[in-house]
Amino acid sequence: MTQVASDAISRIIERHGPDAVCAALAPMLTAERIARIDQVLAARLGSVVTIVEDTYDPHNAAATIRTTEAIGLGELHVVEPEQRFSAAAGVTRGAHRWIDLHRWRSVEAAVAALRARGFRVFATLPGAPHTIDDVDVTTPLAVAFGNEHAGLTPAAIAACDGAIGVPMFGFTESFNLSVTVALAMSRIAARRRAAIGTPGDLDEARRRELRARWFALKIRGAVGVLERALGGG
Ligand SMILES: C[S@@+](CC[C@H](N)C(=O)[O-])C[C@H]1O[C@@H](n2cnc3c(N)ncnc32)[C@H](O)[C@@H]1O
Repeated sequence: MTQVASDAISRIIERHGPDAVCAALAPMLTAERIARIDQVLAARLGSVVTIVEDTYDPHNAAATIRTTEAIGLGELHVVEPEQRFSAAAGVTRGAHRWIDLHRWRSVEAAVAALRARGFRVFATLPGAPHTIDDVDVTTPLAVAFGNEHAGLTPAAIAACDGAIGVPMFGFTESFNLSVTVALAMSRIAARRRAAIGTPGDLDEARRRELRARWFALKIRGAVGVLERALGGG
């Protein structure tokens, strides 16, 4: 789906409400497809967020999107002070369509916005004394990853609430960026799910809005279908 179609879907959901959109599109989806959407929605974790700063390798960027979505997280925040975040399309396997991508000029701006929403934010640093196994997961948390060469900038680290590491036991001093995202976020998401006692935590309004959007994403020409059924957006 193009950005234009995606924006049109947003306008239609806003105008007619998510339930009317789902009712109009449901006859075009199999029961299995709807059940799959509901299963993924039930496990979507809004209270754990990935941030990446200034990645330059499109394969790493794409792997970060794919891993974030596959773990069931809803948001990826990309910080682009120098490099434009661009993801190798073949590597995302379409995962970019199912998550919200937020773009920022600095980690400080991303941290401020997330803090205002109740998140604590942690920098990832090889060798940090605290780890992904002991970080407090009882409140929403965001985890920031640095670029392939220099790691997180000092300003980014200073903006965060603390630093955490992924334990290493070999001679190698750091993991590859996208490998670290997979190791850290899957562990933290699992710990957060255990802490809240449920696989997903979207509120009802968000869940319904995403359900309508995902119905539309599964149907070719959904905008036209909705305009005919509901009277335009
Ligand atoms: C290839 S590493 C960058 C290495 C850089 N020389 C440094 O010391 O941060 C890219 C990113 O992966 C993450 N990373 C890699 N290994 C890590 C580890 N063992 N613990 C925590 N983060 C790690 C960090 O976010 C880092 O900024």
